[in-house]
Amino acid sequence: MRPFRVGVLVSGSGTNLQAVLDSVHREEGIEVVCVAANRAEAEGLARAETAGVETAVFPVAEHATRTARDEALAEFLTAHEVDLVVLAGFMELLSPGFVGRFEGRMINVHPSLLPAFPGVRAIEQAIEYGVRVTGVTVHFVDEGVDTGSILLQEAIELPYAPDIERVEQTIHAAEHRLLPEAIRLIARGALREERGEAGKRRRIVIEGGRHGEH
Ligand code: GAR
Repeated sequence: MRPFRVGVLVSGSGTNLQAVLDSVHREEGIEVVCVAANRAEAEGLARAETAGVETAVFPVAEHATRTARDEALAEFLTAHEVDLVVLAGFMELLSPGFVGRFEGRMINVHPSLLPAFPGVRAIEQAIEYGVRVTGVTVHFVDEGVDTGSILLQEAIELPYAPDIERVEQTIHAAEHRLLPEAIRLIARGALREERGEAGKRRRIVIEGGRHGEH
């Protein structure tokens, strides 16, 4: 049977990619078929190569415009016949044309309880604000910054004197659980969208519940 084909985009250390490679890759009918980065230094590329997954690098500087870079990236993913694009610490905004091409087939992991603290430095933003609860979100990607429909969330309580390194560790551990789980749910077709009235956001319903419970 044809596997559910996943393409992953990274910019940095790639620990989320590693979690995906270690848990769902070549399991449960899922296969990571390609990994792309926006910078050659992204450590995630070596993780992919070690797992025998094809890689490519698409720096904006090597293309005439960002839109041209995004078109080349989209062609790479399309050539690999991906069913799902996973942004795993991909730290650049993607152009509307790219987002439109993969609409409903692209997810992102973000280190806060969206809609709080979108954008960069989300963990620092939460600590600086002084919230007592933050967390992790996996959401579909739309044209906004971290505004797409929410798929999974996990809350994390912050200590009264948060130590950034310990908070980061806790958040990353939650990300490494949630992102593979989201991929599994999408691969098994467990998600349904409930559309609100025109212009209202879409709500994701997980058929049978998050862990298949009723
Ligand atoms: C992760 O914490 C991810 O949530 C965050 O970048 C980190 C990448 O780590 N993404 C964002 O902030 C996106 N707005 P990794 O490269 O080790 O997976």
